[in-house]
Amino acid sequence: MIVIRGLAHSFYVGKKNSRQEIPVLKGIDLKINKGEIVAVIGKSGSGKSTLLNLLSGYIKPLQGEIVLNGTDVTALSEGDWATFRAENLGFIFQSFQLIPSMTAFQNIELPLVMKGINEADREAIVKSMLAKVGLDDYAEHYPSELSGGQQQRVSVARALIVEPPIILADEPTGSLDQETEDELLSFVKQLNEEEGITFVLITHDEEVASVADRVIRLEDGSVVERLDKGAIR
Ligand SMILES: Nc1ncnc2c1ncn2[C@@H]1O[C@H](COP(=O)(O)OP(=O)(O)O)[C@@H](O)[C@H]1O
Ligand SMILES: [Mg+2]
Repeated sequence: MIVIRGLAHSFYVGKKNSRQEIPVLKGIDLKINKGEIVAVIGKSGSGKSTLLNLLSGYIKPLQGEIVLNGTDVTALSEGDWATFRAENLGFIFQSFQLIPSMTAFQNIELPLVMKGINEADREAIVKSMLAKVGLDDYAEHYPSELSGGQQQRVSVARALIVEPPIILADEPTGSLDQETEDELLSFVKQLNEEEGITFVLITHDEEVASVADRVIRLEDGSVVERLDKGAIR
């Protein structure tokens, strides 16, 4: 479960004597239940990525509170954040963010290495994950030897490998063709139904929004719950 209370954030640009505040989020309150799929929509520049970066602990909010599965993460030190993140959050990015010098197997394995899992266990876990995302035959391929859809499956596998209760995705279908997008979205649905994983999906794509249980819109730094979801189903 994700609880956001009074979350506010601004960026500051320009030199000291002409410093300008860019208020991005202006006091957001939001509850996301365990097992919900929530799509976050909003115009470019409306603060969607900022919200996700705050949820990921990559930036600290100027004001407000974020509670993830009972932990007030805004109070965590940098080091505790890293541990919390490794155990609780999975990430899917538009640009996949795979490490080019590592094979599909090694990319998927990485979070397990960071978690300190031994090699024999890692091998078994990664193998079963490769099967789950349909990439058994591509374990030794480098990202440059995979199609866009296959690369996104590697990145999804990497996000899932530690079985995080929450997955955060910023424009996950942004660089996929239609067929691969459909495939990813049904996988998201399946993981959500079978394993109760909570998803926060940032998107500008109505089709992505249509798999969500709830669609919220960021507008002028605030959250506007979208009530016309039925209309886009
Ligand atoms: N590191 C930063 N420094 C200054 N301004 C930023 C920074 N990151 C984002 N912004 C500004 O904050 C606003 C929201 O950006 P962002 O969260 O990326 O929006 P979205 O993802 O909805 O397109 C934009 O006006 C953007 O220019
Ligand atoms: Mg963005």
